[in-house]
Parts: sequence; C-alpha cells; structure tokens
Amino acid sequence: METKRKVILSGIQPTGKLHVGRYFGAIRNWVQLQEQYDCIYSIVDYHAMTMPYHPVKLRENVWDLAINLLACGIKPENLFIQSMVPEHAELAWILSCMCSYGELSRMTQFKDKTQQLKEKDKDLFVSAGLFIYPVLQAADILIYRADYVPVGKDQEQHLELTRNIADRFNLVSGKNYFTLPEPLFTEVPKVMSTADPLKKMSASAGDKHFIDLFAEPAVIQKQIRSAVTDAGDQTVSDAMSPGVENLFQLLKASDKLQYETSLKLYQSGQLPYSQLKEVVSEALISLAIPIQNEKKQLLQNKKEIKDMIKKSSAVIRQRAAQTVAEVKALTGLA
Ligand code: TRP
Repeated sequence: METKRKVILSGIQPTGKLHVGRYFGAIRNWVQLQEQYDCIYSIVDYHAMTMPYHPVKLRENVWDLAINLLACGIKPENLFIQSMVPEHAELAWILSCMCSYGELSRMTQFKDKTQQLKEKDKDLFVSAGLFIYPVLQAADILIYRADYVPVGKDQEQHLELTRNIADRFNLVSGKNYFTLPEPLFTEVPKVMSTADPLKKMSASAGDKHFIDLFAEPAVIQKQIRSAVTDAGDQTVSDAMSPGVENLFQLLKASDKLQYETSLKLYQSGQLPYSQLKEVVSEALISLAIPIQNEKKQLLQNKKEIKDMIKKSSAVIRQRAAQTVAEVKALTGLA
C-alpha cells in the first residue's frame, strides 16, 4: 500500500544570480529531497516586491530562475511561481490577523533589511510589505500543510513564527487544522564571499563576492584566481585563514575526493595557494558545465518551458485553493 509522502515546501527569491552559495546551500539539497518527499518549490515573486525593485527586471529574473532551477534538476511539476497562486496573498491576510505587531517587530531579518536600506539610501522607504513578509512566508508553508521546510539558520526565526501562527490558528478555530511544520536542517557548507571571506556569499554585495553557477568557465577561473586567501604565500600554517578555508569549503562541496587529497597536501605544506585555486576552479567548472549545458537545451524550448511552469502552477494552485476554502469556513468568512 502506498503511504502518503511527507510534504516539503521551500521558497526562493527571484533576486540576483544563482551563485554557488545558493546552489550548495539549498538547491542541490532540494533536488535530492525530491526522491523521498512530496516537494513543492516556489519562486517567491511576491516576496521580491518587499525591497526596491524594477518590474521588468523582476519578471525577467523569475523566468531566468525558473530555467536555472530546472537546469539544476528541480522537476517542473514541483516548481511554481508564487503570484500564479494568489491564494498565498489571501491566506497571508487572514494569518496577519493572527500574528502580533510585537512578534513581527522582533524579526531580525526585518531589522537587517531596514538597516541595509538605510545604508544604501537615506530617503529610505521601508514598506509595510517588508514588515509583514514573514506572514506571507507562513502562508507559503501552511497553505500546503507542509511537514518540513528545508531552511538555513537565517530562516529559523521565520519558521518559528510560522509555527506560532499555526498554533494560534488551531486554537482560534478550535480544530487542529494546520500541521506545525518542522525545520529540516541538512548539512550545508558555509560558503563565504570570495572577496570578503568573513561575509556570507551573496549576490547583493557585488560581482567580486560571488561565483555565478552560470558564468563562463573562464570567468569562474578568473574569479577563483583572484579570491582572497591571506597575505604572503606561506603554505603551512596551523589555522587556515578564512579565505583559504572558504576555498576548501568550495572544494569539499564540489569534489569530495579532490578535497581530501588537497587537504593532505596542504597540511604537509605541499600545496601553494595558486595550485589550490586551480583545483578549486576545476572542480567548480566540472560541476557547472553539465548544468549550463542543460540550461542551453532548455532555452531552445523556452515557450514550452514557460507553459509547463504555468501548468504546474495551476495544478499546485488547486491544493492551495482547497486550504483557503477550508480556512475561510473555519474563520467565519462568508
Ligand atoms: N524568506 C525566504 C528567503 O528569503 C524565502 C521564502 C519565502 C521561503 N517563502 C518561503 C523559504 C517559504 C522557505 C519557506 O530566503
């Protein structure tokens, strides 16, 4: 007899490039989870509106990310675009009435992003959307009654809030309607910026800081060559500098065997940085090439791919609509 597979939900913002930090930190894991779980992955374009953005760019980013995710191995039937399921916004409204101003004020991501905006522009505009964003995220998760959410540490607080909202909903409605979603922590490498290895790799810091999974091999190589290691060319040291450690992290994530060999060489003082960098860039390039080739193939059928994603969004929408209908009945809406 077939048992129902557990539901996994996750979301990714259509902002910036798909860099290797995002790939090793999330996407690769998403791909693997598809084997065992009922996975639903969302390109969260509603979320991307919470920070200053350009409409044309947003739409471009959504489709580019969709194709990138498929190229990485996400199955089309598991992928949808958030705004094609407007029930997310409707549920978010209902849930926002079950979440307090105080709870939202404590969200560290809100504080960080407000800070970022302030630093960028003194005439800052902090949208109410940015403030209530965690409620939309809760709706993303609860609308599919997800059992697990693969998250990084930075999203832990949002998931905790989601559980609190679900709990409150269950109390108010007198039914144990929502599943309280559990975080799914998997071992992910800590990939840091190649220009500033004390910071997490991110696309917003600038081109030198991240390695685009879809960059030309020569570009990847050049970037790894210029990655920060440390001053001098000492090759034996007790503690690795953050830059060197980051190179090893990248290697471990892309080619475990090569990592072990290189680490031994390094520890015995036989691996100059220049050589380490060659090994790392080779490993990253071999990982990237098949994915990039897959993307080229997909781009030849762009129209069909778009139709496919629209179709999967429509199918997933039916699940969301069912939840919203039940929630409306439970909350006294007509
Ligand atoms: N907030 C997440 C981020 O910034 C993206 C996201 C939106 C998400 N909805 C989600 C993640 C639901 C997990 C589950 O990365």
